[in-house]
Amino acid sequence: MNFSGKTVVLGVTGGIAAYKACDLVSRLHKKGIQIRVIMTEHACEFVQPLTLEVLSGNRVVTDMFNRDFPWEVEHISLAKAADVFAVVPATANILGKYAHGVADDMLSTTLLATRAPVLFAPAMNTAMYEHPAVQENITTLKRRGCLFVEPASGHLACGDTGKGKLADVEKIEQAILDALTEKDMQGMHVTVTAGPTREAMDPVRFLSNHSTGKMGYAIARSAKMRGAEVTLISGPVALEPLDGVRMIPVTSACDMREAVMQALPQSDLVIKAAAVGDYRPATFQDDKIKKHDDDMSVSLVRNPDILAEIGEKRRDD
Ligand SMILES: Cc1cc2nc3c(=O)[nH]c(=O)nc-3n(C[C@H](O)[C@H](O)[C@H](O)COP(=O)(O)O)c2cc1C
Repeated sequence: MNFSGKTVVLGVTGGIAAYKACDLVSRLHKKGIQIRVIMTEHACEFVQPLTLEVLSGNRVVTDMFNRDFPWEVEHISLAKAADVFAVVPATANILGKYAHGVADDMLSTTLLATRAPVLFAPAMNTAMYEHPAVQENITTLKRRGCLFVEPASGHLACGDTGKGKLADVEKIEQAILDALTEKDMQGMHVTVTAGPTREAMDPVRFLSNHSTGKMGYAIARSAKMRGAEVTLISGPVALEPLDGVRMIPVTSACDMREAVMQALPQSDLVIKAAAVGDYRPATFQDDKIKKHDDDMSVSLVRNPDILAEIGEKRRDD
């Protein structure tokens, strides 16, 4: 997908995870996205604005009253430039300020002035995150349509273990790309197949191929980003399941055929990116096939041709 020409305004606040904003900026910049960073005064205690300036290729804004640049009311121009406004990491403080309409620095003021979708990736100590005040602020902001990338659970920099760790940067990047994408497939149901099939010979051996599933997963992710409801029928792959996509794991070509035929009536579009095995062993041995000194041959039978079957069904319907 092409994101060049899009602008993300990125607010960085004063948490220990501020350094992870550098990775995020670098990733977004590589996709051709314009990134305008606003750092709070406290964020500058954790990361030098210079780092984010170099990574974004743009001047980082930290001070609302700095007059050392061509004149414009910068909080308004930044607020208008944003296609998405993300705050990563988001402190308890900025969530509270935005929930209550406080505008006492460049970031909180620009947030109030934007009409762009606003996305928060909170990070803080578990007790802070679970505090009713913070939870109520999050509920208020969600009700107003703000997007959230939930923090993860784990070992926190403060030494505690629990929820409050900044979500994975890849996950935050994906949520931002999602928010930037036009929802031109809204209302469509897309079924995608991905990965290899495995055709078992005995309980420990199978015939398969080198398909990674990456293409099918990328197609499914794009369709989801464009607003489609997506079903992904996947052979065995080493890829993470996709958030917000109905995942149907299958093993053999016959399993895949059955899953595709079940999904077909609800599908507006079927994209077959799986590498379905053309043949399977004619017989399945219940016990592991023993090794012999002689050569061995395996008789194969033809697997169903799912694509041809879908084509025929379409002609009949
Ligand atoms: C070492 C250190 C780490 C901190 N980490 C966090 C954090 O992860 N999340 C958070 O909400 N506040 C954290 N704080 C507290 C914030 O910096 C503080 O609430 C500050 O007022 C936030 O200001 P800002 O939202 O304008 O950046 C931390 C403070 C210190 C000294």
